[in-house]
Amino acid sequence: MRRLSAALSMSLLLASCSVGRPPEDASGEEIYSQLCARCHGADLGGGIAPELGSGSNSADESDEFLEFTIMNGRGRMPSFSSSLDEDQLDRLVVFMREVQSGA
Ligand code: HEC
Repeated sequence: MRRLSAALSMSLLLASCSVGRPPEDASGEEIYSQLCARCHGADLGGGIAPELGSGSNSADESDEFLEFTIMNGRGRMPSFSSSLDEDQLDRLVVFMREVQSGA
């Protein structure tokens, strides 16, 4: 029984640490800040994860690459398929393209 309750409290702990879902009507920028900035930097300039902004590898990649990476994860990056719906994913990619193009 002790092992079961340890597993249970561990999963509760993980649930409370999860980044959660952004509000349904969150802008692309808000979604980025909430889910991505801590690893990729507030301005997409990189941090513990690669830069995503203007001149980066991601700027040359297709929308499909960005969407696939966000929804499936890549290497040490987690998947966000349980945090984002299709509209939010679209807004997030549009925001990243705006920053990459210097808009
Ligand atoms: C926990 C840290 C972390 C978070 C949060 C995170 N990423 Fe990542 N991301 C990474 C790491 C690490 C890589 C490099 C993975 C590899 O190639 O092994 C990466 C790679 C990427 C790549 C591919 C970059 C390239 O040049 O190949 C894209 C695009 C990306 N992340 C977008 C995002 C977006 C958008 C979000 C928010 C929804 C996000 N990431 C959240 C850690 C993170």
